[in-house]
Amino acid sequence: MPLTHLEIQNFRLLKKVVIEPGAKLNVITGWNAAGKTTLLEATHVLATGRSFRTKRWSELIRHGADSLMVHGIVVEGDQEHRVGLAFDGRGRTIRVDGSAMKGAAVLARHVPLLAITPELHFEFLRSGRHRRGLLDWWLFHVEPDFYPKWLRYQRLLGQRNAALRCSSPPAVQFLWDEDLAALGEDLDHSRQNFFRQLREEFLQTAGTLLQRGAVSLRFLRGWEDSEPLLAQLQRTRASDQRRGFTQSGPHLADLRLDLDMDGIRTQLSHGQQKLLVIALRLAQLRLFMAKTGRRCVLLADDIGAELDRIHRQRVCDVLEALETQIFLTAMEARDFAPRSRAHSMFHVEQSCINSVSSSSSTSKKSDLPDVEMLK
Ligand SMILES: Nc1ncnc2c1ncn2[C@@H]1O[C@H](COP(=O)(O)OP(=O)(O)OP(=O)(O)O)[C@@H](O)[C@H]1O
Ligand SMILES: [Mg+2]
Repeated sequence: MPLTHLEIQNFRLLKKVVIEPGAKLNVITGWNAAGKTTLLEATHVLATGRSFRTKRWSELIRHGADSLMVHGIVVEGDQEHRVGLAFDGRGRTIRVDGSAMKGAAVLARHVPLLAITPELHFEFLRSGRHRRGLLDWWLFHVEPDFYPKWLRYQRLLGQRNAALRCSSPPAVQFLWDEDLAALGEDLDHSRQNFFRQLREEFLQTAGTLLQRGAVSLRFLRGWEDSEPLLAQLQRTRASDQRRGFTQSGPHLADLRLDLDMDGIRTQLSHGQQKLLVIALRLAQLRLFMAKTGRRCVLLADDIGAELDRIHRQRVCDVLEALETQIFLTAMEARDFAPRSRAHSMFHVEQSCINSVSSSSSTSKKSDLPDVEMLK
């Protein structure tokens, strides 16, 4: 089970919160501005070293405080790890089991986390970086070689682009082409292998959630299918020089999502976009668990918004069946009612989080608040 203990201090409106999340579904309810998204955001910061709402760290510190802290205990098999992150207005400190660490990748390795936020489907449809990220998150966790190769590729690409922009002599501009192409082909090979599995899993989940229309998902690798990357880099050198950047390679890979309804390619409604992107996230998560045998933390913020009752129930059923830890927010418990009682309920009010019921313990009734103030 990933997180057995979560402690948050001076994070936005949350002054001090300590919770013991359940191993599976944790439903967090509360009115507008109560702090539900903030709880998820703090968990996201702990697992990835960044917020899903802002790049400005100072925004995250509670007004009037001068630093923030998020701390958690992660259990994996018989091992327990303490992970923590603090920000004091100038710099970020990351600690794992008491030792200071550099870079957030170490947090991600300890707490694999995926998020479904209300903006996810907009980000996904708008930005190729987000679509590529879906493949690369999985490869980061599953293929140990992928991340170092990806970093090296980014470095070489940055050098090539800088040389193109400075109009350096061609011998310098194209010095890295062979290495860049070899790494690019390698990264693409990993992505294509994963994409084939992702597509299968996605089509199944999308079928369950939508139950109407033919969904298709395609992978575009970032250069012509018919040509090796090196050949394309060499063929487009003049055009790269004119434009000042490299126009082919896995940094431009993409995913295309389509839905045909009654034989017609449709413009997706918000609800359909949301369901398809949820299906992609869940496919990514299921494949992660199947491949690694590990669990993942899934954040689902306001997942029921823009979905009708039937689709909301389908999403709820799919989430409930997942053998992983989920933090899900909803305005009221009835907005997202799991069928089984094997879930934990928390209520957020005036920046306090109350454990309302833990239905894994059969002695507690879900409508009888067990108000354990966890200030
Ligand atoms: N740095 C900060 N210090 C104190 N309060 C903050 C800070 N940043 C944001 N807030 C407050 O936190 C509240 C927002 O909390 P949050 O977004 O978690 O609410 P929510 O429960 O998810 O609400 P909704 O249901 O509307 O999505 C707002 O009232 C906002 O003013
Ligand atoms: Mg919210």
